[in-house]
Amino acid sequence: MISTEGLNKYYKGADHFHALRDVDLEIGKGEFVAITGQSGSGKSTLLYVLSTLDTDYTGTIKINGNVLKSMSANQLASLRNRDIGFVFQFHYLLPEFSVLENVCLPAMRLKKFTPVQIRERALQKLDILGLSGHAHKKASQLSGGQQQRVAIARALINDPVIIFGDEPTGNLDSANARMVFDIFKELSEKHEQTIVIVTHDPGIAAKSDRIITLKDGEIV
Ligand SMILES: Nc1ncnc2c1ncn2[C@@H]1O[C@H](COP(=O)(O)OP(=O)(O)OP(=O)(O)O)[C@@H](O)[C@H]1O
Ligand SMILES: [Mg+2]
Repeated sequence: MISTEGLNKYYKGADHFHALRDVDLEIGKGEFVAITGQSGSGKSTLLYVLSTLDTDYTGTIKINGNVLKSMSANQLASLRNRDIGFVFQFHYLLPEFSVLENVCLPAMRLKKFTPVQIRERALQKLDILGLSGHAHKKASQLSGGQQQRVAIARALINDPVIIFGDEPTGNLDSANARMVFDIFKELSEKHEQTIVIVTHDPGIAAKSDRIITLKDGEIV
């Protein structure tokens, strides 16, 4: 589902920095992979290039059979919208929109489902994440942990084949972190969705199928 060969990332400009060094990896369909490593080791950088958000790298990345470098910006955007769900380290909800609208947005863009189906699916995802009572509030009216769970519901709305999470449980207490972990586990086991999450939580990492550890931009 995901492979890289000779992947290198340089941040250019005044603060020139070699952030990913010869990263070769393969992640199979339905695998649940945890990425760990110290702060500054390159975890977010890796997630951004794998998820097509950052195209400034050298080497080869293949996602679901597609060589990213051979694709136009439009093709990348449609691959991203169709196949990838992303939960950011700092969730980016639209604060003035309702929780329901935030979750529906990626599905409205994809147009795979009708508006009625999208609404139903969004309510179902919110329910799974323990947020059914909050659908009609503004996103800004929720707590940090609730907002993070909304961001997770939003990442699931299009049934992506890959879900990337950058510390998706970082703002959650242990009960909610556990719940989100169980959801990811079920998605990988029952629906063969591929899960790649950055986590500092050793408990969660230990329960993943595989841990990839980065140090100074290299896999160790
Ligand atoms: N825009 C940038 N310009 C220059 N250097 C950058 C830039 N963004 C990140 N870096 C550097 O690249 C390295 C990797 O950063 P990255 O954000 O991937 O770390 P991380 O492993 O996700 O850390 P954390 O656990 O703190 O989130 C760091 O040394 C960082 O300072
Ligand atoms: Mg990071």
